[in-house]
Amino acid sequence: MHPIVAPFPSGRLRRTRMSAGLRALTREVTLGPGDLIWPLFLREGTGLAEPVPSMPGVERLSVDRAVAAAAEAAELGIPAVCLFPYTDPSKKSVACEEAWNPENLTNRAIRAIRAEVPGLAVMTDIALDPYNIHGHDGIVRDGEILNDETVEALVRMALVQAEAGATILGPSDMMDGRIGAIRSALEAAGHRDLAILSYAAKFASAFYGPFRDAVGATGALKGDKATYQIDPANRAEALRCVARDLAEGADMVMVKPGMPYLDICRAVKDAFGAPTFAYQVSGEYAMIEGAARAGWIDGERTMLESLVAFKRAGCDGVLTYFAPRAARRLRAG
Ligand code: PBG
Repeated sequence: MHPIVAPFPSGRLRRTRMSAGLRALTREVTLGPGDLIWPLFLREGTGLAEPVPSMPGVERLSVDRAVAAAAEAAELGIPAVCLFPYTDPSKKSVACEEAWNPENLTNRAIRAIRAEVPGLAVMTDIALDPYNIHGHDGIVRDGEILNDETVEALVRMALVQAEAGATILGPSDMMDGRIGAIRSALEAAGHRDLAILSYAAKFASAFYGPFRDAVGATGALKGDKATYQIDPANRAEALRCVARDLAEGADMVMVKPGMPYLDICRAVKDAFGAPTFAYQVSGEYAMIEGAARAGWIDGERTMLESLVAFKRAGCDGVLTYFAPRAARRLRAG
């Protein structure tokens, strides 16, 4: 593109900003409830909503309360929720078997939400960290995160979630070859139309801290995730990861975290044109919400500005803990 700007005073860029009408007509991207995916944290019990201290305003919900949240999402025009379980430490193990238990918290929640709110898409998380005594996304042996053994476990997890009625599978583990393995297992099992939204460009980030508290993985995690998540300095590698996942059968791809990685979002959208999402992660939420609660920034305006930035960067949608609040604001106009 070669933008032409007439020299001053023929050119005055403020002319299209002078009224709300002109600003609306010349706005380049819009944000709506339909662009949002709402991540929900699950816990055992009934009638429970337990605050997550490092994410003020976010709660872990028992399945019945998660169903109510899902109904609220549908009412607000949010197309999907994404489920993350807080797993009781007694159910964590070295082999992570709870991950593919058809009766685990996530699978019970998938069935309950699909039964009560059939129009809503239910996205899952495929990774072993909530079930892993070591807190890692993969199986650990002698301090190493084992790729191929983990992929086998992830395939089992994916098939069980598919059986439970998930509408979007979200592999977030960053093991090599998992998209291809999950895709062929789904085809073989007859789940031909089930979408995969791959966490394709997932960076080894400190912004995930509050999430690990929320799912109870903080205490368990030894070391870091640098052997399987991308170095924050690497853009070409992120593009190779996205290319690989699309080639293996991902339908949609994600960049994560969001705000510090908008350059990656733009590069991914321009390079591949695939449905592209960003995850505005727990630490990003905590920064905005924490500053807003301290009275340092206008929380509502910062929230909406941060979200429209993802659209401007080329994303088709955003996973955000602000989803219901943003949708309410956007509907109010
Ligand atoms: C792990 C997973 C993480 C998030 C989603 N899935 C954390 C991690 O990789 O350690 C982070 C989400 C957030 O921070 O909001 N499978």
